Amino acid sequence: MDFVLTKDQRDLQQMVRDFATNEIAPLAAEIDRTDEYPLELIKKKMGELGLMGIPIPEENGGVGADFISYMLAIEEISYASASVGVILAVHSSVGTMPILKFGNDEQKAKYVEKMAMGEWIGAFCLTEPSAGSDAASLRTRAVRDGDHYVLNGSKIFITNGEVADVFIVFAVTHPELGTKGISAFIVERDTPGFSIGKKEHKMGMNGSGTVTLNFDNALVPATQLLGNEGDGFKVAMSNLDGGRIGIAAQALGIGRAAFDAAKDYVKQREQFGKAIADFQAIQFMLADMATRLEAARLMIYRAAALRQEGKPCSMEASMAKYFASDAAMYVTTEAVQLFGGYGYSKEYPVERFMRDAKVTQIYEGTNQIQRIVVAKNLLKG
Ligand code: CAA
Repeated sequence: MDFVLTKDQRDLQQMVRDFATNEIAPLAAEIDRTDEYPLELIKKKMGELGLMGIPIPEENGGVGADFISYMLAIEEISYASASVGVILAVHSSVGTMPILKFGNDEQKAKYVEKMAMGEWIGAFCLTEPSAGSDAASLRTRAVRDGDHYVLNGSKIFITNGEVADVFIVFAVTHPELGTKGISAFIVERDTPGFSIGKKEHKMGMNGSGTVTLNFDNALVPATQLLGNEGDGFKVAMSNLDGGRIGIAAQALGIGRAAFDAAKDYVKQREQFGKAIADFQAIQFMLADMATRLEAARLMIYRAAALRQEGKPCSMEASMAKYFASDAAMYVTTEAVQLFGGYGYSKEYPVERFMRDAKVTQIYEGTNQIQRIVVAKNLLKG
């Protein structure tokens, strides 16, 4: 067992850290305040550097890095800006990967390279007003009509949806077949009958372009079916396995940012005639924060290594996702506490970290759903 990153992994980590420090961190507070999608940063700077296609093979226009390197990149970017972290994670893990894994040659040729290079942004469209945790209860219908499918319904809370070019959409083709009656489609932004609806105003993760999508007799060419009819639930769940490890890495980045800020602060903040870091009560808080982050990191690396080897990792991904996001919520809340009144002020970034951390316990499957996945895996067979 080797707990040391390879040279390639360390090089990529350092490159992303430098980029995030110089190009993303200075924009983070502004992205949060304005709630504006950082399109130029994403498409131009990150796209040109290859950051929008880290785990995509080189022959498909990506960097061809391993899954652990991809997790390191998400952590570094989320350390600088959680919003940019989720934009990247959703685009790559559940926007591009489904096409790479389930697409036919034409679909891969048309979409994957452009997405890996950041020219086209991807979105993953599963959640509906009445189908959140119960993802199998989708109501969006897709009915075959000649060489098209006609889609009707709506999707909500779609990250990147505000600007995305390519939407992975799940819809019911055969209602009588349950999860086997769900199909996946690649929907382009200018599809007739498809429109972008209202934008969500959220507690945090601002700037990630979260919107509602409407399908009103949307005409999707039959060639846009991803995989076979009935494969949709498998497409969604198998890509969420990887996506959830990414959300864990995102949570780790947010938690580490909060921890570093708090550690610096307690060393310079003086009360009762000495730095508050000299009080054991404060030291114990730091120790608990660091220990949870370290445990999260190990779980993420383990799940990512399984994913890289192509081994089953649903259980480990769910464990990492719920542990790391709980750790991020704990660490960011403690960081606000350590900053005292200043922590509650928008003058310091820790209140943003706390707001951003919250949704990592909710999206890509709530932490209660992660426990269901863990328990199902423990009890099967
Ligand atoms: N990989 C491949 N196939 C899988 C799978 C996986 N990880 N998990 C399940 N399946 C298959 C099963 O094998 C089963 O197939 P068979 O019938 O052939 O055995 C089929 O799918 C149905 O599985 P379940 O019986 O387990 O399905 P379920 O209806 O009980 O649902 C669930 C399981 C875990 C609760 C699922 O509904 C779920 O994950 N819900 C949460 C939804 C979610 O994560 N949404 C995230 C939205 S995206 C997002 O948040 C992105 C963002 O913006 C940040």
